[in-house]
Amino acid sequence: MLKGILQFAHQLLEESVERGETVIDATCGNGNDTLFLSKTVGDDGHVFAFDIQEQAHQETKALLTKHGKSNVSLIHDSHEHVEKYVHNEIGGAIFNLGYLPRSDKRIITKPDTTIAAIDAILNRLKKNKLVVIVVYHGHEGGKEEKEAVLNYCMALDQKKFSVLQYRFINQVNHPPFLLAIQKK
Ligand SMILES: C[S@@+](CC[C@H](N)C(=O)[O-])C[C@H]1O[C@@H](n2cnc3c(N)ncnc32)[C@H](O)[C@@H]1O
Repeated sequence: MLKGILQFAHQLLEESVERGETVIDATCGNGNDTLFLSKTVGDDGHVFAFDIQEQAHQETKALLTKHGKSNVSLIHDSHEHVEKYVHNEIGGAIFNLGYLPRSDKRIITKPDTTIAAIDAILNRLKKNKLVVIVVYHGHEGGKEEKEAVLNYCMALDQKKFSVLQYRFINQVNHPPFLLAIQKK
């Protein structure tokens, strides 16, 4: 069976993240990936979850409380400042680009800050671990970000990183796709 984009994103992280590690949700939104990462690293691990919107923090906090999870730091700051908050080596990270569903569609991830954040996380990423990026690009501003992130990924040195693109090529309406960067 072919996995859907989000399903495949979680599968990749489930297979590479270990219990006890420090991981990052770079765009916590409604908290679904934060909860998934919190369960994956277990009580001895830690999740740093970034978002610039108060609404995203409220949603994520409520979801984590409902599931009794306390191994998460919610960071109300833009993800390119990751080095200010995360001092450990990183066991994995996820980005969901675009806007918060059912919210203000003008508040979106942007090419420069997204790339700066990916770059900062790759610097601290452990060998063989993954940064997974789910690229939504149908909204206004999405095309520019998609192109910038693809160009950045294609220029990564193949001696240092492997980069996978996973996408369905027969879907209509700008389907999201996945990029997975593995550090060698
Ligand atoms: C597609 S949503 C994330 C969905 C989320 N992963 C979930 O499971 O619900 C994108 C999120 O990125 C956030 N965002 C936009 N720019 C950001 C930035 N510079 N740093 C951190 N988060 C940002 C938005 O506020 C929004 O909540």
